[in-house]
Amino acid sequence: MERVGRVVARTLERMRAAVCPGITTAELDDVAAAFMREEGARSAPNLFYGFPGWTCISVNEEVVHGVPGSRTIAGGDLVTLDVTAELDGYVADAAVTVAVPPAAPLALALRDCAEAAFWKAAGLVRAGAPLALVGGAVEREVRRRGFRVLRELSGHGVGRKIHEPPSVLNYHDARVRTRLTDGLVIALEPLISANTSWTREMADGWTISSRNGSLTAHFEHTLVVQRDEPLLLTAA
Ligand code: CO
Repeated sequence: MERVGRVVARTLERMRAAVCPGITTAELDDVAAAFMREEGARSAPNLFYGFPGWTCISVNEEVVHGVPGSRTIAGGDLVTLDVTAELDGYVADAAVTVAVPPAAPLALALRDCAEAAFWKAAGLVRAGAPLALVGGAVEREVRRRGFRVLRELSGHGVGRKIHEPPSVLNYHDARVRTRLTDGLVIALEPLISANTSWTREMADGWTISSRNGSLTAHFEHTLVVQRDEPLLLTAA
């Protein structure tokens, strides 16, 4: 899992470096495809769900599962790069939202909020901790900064497949009684919007956008639950 985690991290680095006004999302996906192929990795969304692309690229109001295509990136866009790779039977998943200059203050605040909520919650991830606390930490930080958690989307266990139990909610749910266990691998991923908690599916059958078209951001790493601090598998 460490190998596939590293491939995901390095793919994201390359994509992030390529983001600029004028590039299309298909061209960004090509950057990822070339590197992943070189590493012998495959696109997990393609492998498991038939997703038509190597990576998911979601712009502005698009939250997740944006299909790479002819859309051209413009200055001021918030571009979410989401890479889920498979290598030697293991899967790792990470995402980052990039603010293309000149970015508006709202875009920067939203991007920073997704990252800050991730780190707050990651700080609570350890063997024995209640999973509900992790979601509560994400929600609290997002609210504190004046934004909303998109409640229909969540993180997940990951390992042999993309989506494994448990669901890693981004809000506190008292019905969740699960405690984290040593060695469990999870994708923790705050998915947030400027002012709505709800999403809608777009006509392409893949892209999920905020229901009211408001700006969104996403930050994700795959991490291993340990007795103390979690091990980040997808950190550069
Ligand atoms: Co994920």
